[in-house]
Amino acid sequence: MTQTPDPLRLIAVAAMASNRVIGKNGKLPWKLPEDLGFFKRLTTGYPVIMGRKTFESIGRPLPKRRNIIISTTLKTAPSGTDLVASIDALRLPSINLSGKAFVIGGAQIYAALMPQIDEIYLSYIFEDHQGDATLPEFETSFDLKEVIKKYDDFEVRHYLRNALK
Ligand SMILES: NC(=O)c1ccc[n+]([C@@H]2O[C@H](COP(=O)([O-])OP(=O)(O)OC[C@H]3O[C@@H](n4cnc5c(N)ncnc54)[C@H](OP(=O)(O)O)[C@@H]3O)[C@@H](O)[C@H]2O)c1
Repeated sequence: MTQTPDPLRLIAVAAMASNRVIGKNGKLPWKLPEDLGFFKRLTTGYPVIMGRKTFESIGRPLPKRRNIIISTTLKTAPSGTDLVASIDALRLPSINLSGKAFVIGGAQIYAALMPQIDEIYLSYIFEDHQGDATLPEFETSFDLKEVIKKYDDFEVRHYLRNALK
């Protein structure tokens, strides 16, 4: 018997400074090893979806995860990745994406996919940082469900989309 695949559930994971900065000159503006560890534990085993610039910043596919890159300029998928040319393409049957998938940035991709995102894991950094990439306002469409971890420099907040949409 053929089973119907689970519907796609998009979950954003991001780290944001208190002034909403998430990136600077194509990189993360901070070094937070505990946050990288949390990110790895959360996303391992699941597809990760990212913009072309974030992929270039990481420089290689993330291991033990299906890496999906969104780009209009790349013509072939970098080794070890899958390539889509639009956010709508993520839902094409040929992409075969179902169940939980993590949206891992950057700013353009968070903004483009935010209307479709169901949950957010946000590492909220307690101070401002200088940068050129920011996370769009999402708070009016999401409820804070739980603060799941607390560290000296940041805490991990789990948000769920609220009923108002
Ligand atoms: N703090 C965090 O949690 C976090 C997470 C990830 C990244 N970052 C930071 O964010 C910064 C990068 O963000 P960014 O906004 O500059 O780049 P990005 O979102 O990673 O990638 C942008 C690229 O994605 C493609 N793209 C975006 N929207 C698209 C759409 N609707 N359809 C098709 N392709 C689309 C385009 O690629 P083409 O030009 O090839 O068409 C675009 O140039 C870096 O500083 C990075 O370190 C921070």
